[in-house]
Amino acid sequence: MNPRLDTEHPSPFAALLQPGRIGGLELRNRIVMAPMGSNFAEDDGRCGERIQAYYEARAKGGAGLLTMGVCAVAFPAGTAEPFQVGVSSDEFIPGLAALARRVHAHGAKIAMQLQHAGKTATHDLAAGRELWVPSLPPHTKTDMLQALTTEEMATFVGGLGKTRPRLRVMDPADIAQMVEFFAAAAARAQAAGFDGVEVHGAHTYILAGFLSPYYNQRQDEYGGPLENRARLLLEVIRAIKARCGAGFPVWVRLDAEELRTPGGITLADAVATAQLCEGAGADAISVSAYATITTGTAFTEAPLVHAPRGFVSNTQAVKAAVSIPVIAAGRIEPDLAAQDIGAGRYDFVAMARKMLADPEIPIKLAANRPQDIRPCIYCYACVSQIFVNQRVKCAVNALTGHEFEAAVEPTATPRHVVVVGGGPSGMEAARVAALRGHRVTLLERSDRLGGTLFFAALAYAENGALLDHLVEQVKRLPIQVRLNTAATAQTVEALKPDALIVATGARRAAPAMPGADQRHVWSGDELRRLMTGDGADEIARAKLNLAERALFKAGGMLGVTDSQQALKGLSKLWMPLGRRVVIVGGGLVGLELAEFLLERGREVTVLEPSDKPGRELSIVRRWRVLDTVRTHGQLHMQATVEAIEAREVLWRDAQGAQQRTPADSVVLAIGAEPDHTLAESLSVLSVPITAVGDGAEVGYIEGAMHGGNRAGREV
Ligand SMILES: Cc1cc2nc3c(=O)[nH]c(=O)nc-3n(C[C@H](O)[C@H](O)[C@H](O)COP(=O)(O)O)c2cc1C
Repeated sequence: MNPRLDTEHPSPFAALLQPGRIGGLELRNRIVMAPMGSNFAEDDGRCGERIQAYYEARAKGGAGLLTMGVCAVAFPAGTAEPFQVGVSSDEFIPGLAALARRVHAHGAKIAMQLQHAGKTATHDLAAGRELWVPSLPPHTKTDMLQALTTEEMATFVGGLGKTRPRLRVMDPADIAQMVEFFAAAAARAQAAGFDGVEVHGAHTYILAGFLSPYYNQRQDEYGGPLENRARLLLEVIRAIKARCGAGFPVWVRLDAEELRTPGGITLADAVATAQLCEGAGADAISVSAYATITTGTAFTEAPLVHAPRGFVSNTQAVKAAVSIPVIAAGRIEPDLAAQDIGAGRYDFVAMARKMLADPEIPIKLAANRPQDIRPCIYCYACVSQIFVNQRVKCAVNALTGHEFEAAVEPTATPRHVVVVGGGPSGMEAARVAALRGHRVTLLERSDRLGGTLFFAALAYAENGALLDHLVEQVKRLPIQVRLNTAATAQTVEALKPDALIVATGARRAAPAMPGADQRHVWSGDELRRLMTGDGADEIARAKLNLAERALFKAGGMLGVTDSQQALKGLSKLWMPLGRRVVIVGGGLVGLELAEFLLERGREVTVLEPSDKPGRELSIVRRWRVLDTVRTHGQLHMQATVEAIEAREVLWRDAQGAQQRTPADSVVLAIGAEPDHTLAESLSVLSVPITAVGDGAEVGYIEGAMHGGNRAGREV
């Protein structure tokens, strides 16, 4: 499909789909894949099949421009990731050239983001090399490591804390060498057929280190006033232009602000730097931001901003000050990007997380099918991988980083596939199987699709977008859905399936605990069933009084089919839970529930038996949830619950002292385990059975989406 604007049928995304230009570089639309370090290169920095196929998929998906993140100009020196792309010698050119050719074949352009990590070159740290810095950096206190598990600590970037860094304050010869690293790397990008380079002047890497009044304390002509702090960056721009020719597009990524950094880069600095860059010949400015990681959540203030359109006003300020194009980033939805671009707030939108979740955003927008875009659920699984030196993955897109080894291909032998369970794994399996040409029947016991994802969408609204997307896909594909249908060997046999996929979810048995059988104590399964409509009436009768039942009904889960409708009824829905809630279990479910209830004004105490809460959450998401729960509620670790009484929970703290916490409601968010019962009872049918999702192995949304995708591909 041609991702360019269809002029006969104007689209709401027209402004986004119109061609654009950076310097002399013509781009088919305004959608840029933002630079992302992916850890998809080979361990010697070459671009192998994995990274080539990954970028090719995004080119095929219709983006105008792809930016290859953090390509190391001094590889292996100056790197922060184990599988970073190298561009420090001509040996890297063949892999880069092959990648560029594959991208060009689909009509996209590709730029290389040139980087030297400076003080954050954790691989220099691990290898005992000196870290290059503008001046000795002030010590930053951070509590980010506290939330990590032992395994995560073992692989945490560069083994922080294990090695004492050797710092090298750059002398004039080092500065000249740095300029040469960048210029030579740009020339190699050009030789490899890349269409331009983005100079990484953000995120505390070396050039940002010089720009920052906080990190740059030099006394010479590279420190002090902005003109001096920007000198190295401007020399780099000029050197690249001199080496590659004035017509070779060069632009710069800048931090519009350095948050949590006393005396760090301000918006005024950034605007002035952008103007200096334009004066030095830069062809565009890409606007980002940075927050010194004084605590884990800082990372989601910037650069991976959690707030939608979090950087737009800063980006506008830069745009107002320069006459070259400006690239925006930071959780900007396509419809809003189209409006912003139409209104001249910036020229291009760069998308990072969204492009991991769905490489085909541009072609789906061009077809005016935004509902087909697989949404990012802001679970931070992708970037958390970088923190532990692993290859990037995407929770909702099993194929990200695996494009070289897996694809959804039409089947040679179409069969009748029966999927049991309409939660995320079942829907994903059904979707993929149907796309491949199988005849698919999807059985769901309750009156709506979604399963546990419905519950997850209520606790963390971002998950709702995935729920709605999957339901929409099941609707538009030729999948026969049978709701209110419990699968038994007889009902399934009657369908004459050739293959079965069982996706019926985990068992959440109420743990044996004195007092657990009281009315105000909810097992995870009871809450889930109440919210997801899976036998909700039965649960409501057992657990709610008459008035609560009336409110619950008025809350309107009856007939609810999507996450938006469900969210509207929420304030009433959560009435069953009293003002003071104790949640037993500080894993993913307990913490997300705590976060949700705190946002709705409940007093929440989480009692977690281990000393590592939320280990199933990605590191970055865990930082966020723990911050909310600790700031607004109570979280006790190594807490052993002894009894639940009518108005209190009795428990022992880490020191063995007995504690009492008042509770109007108690939620037991523990004990989810795989449930093989149905798969076993269906095995009498002598039809091949694949079990997926939490029922096979508790893996939450990521486990469900990846397992469902695999089952759909392999059936
Ligand atoms: C996995 C991952 C890796 C990233 N690596 C880089 C990088 O190498 N260089 C960079 O400038 N920004 C990097 N970023 C930041 C993105 O380019 C982008 O600015 C940010 O994610 C906000 O955009 P989004 O909301 O579209 O994700 C990375 C983001 C992610 C999710």
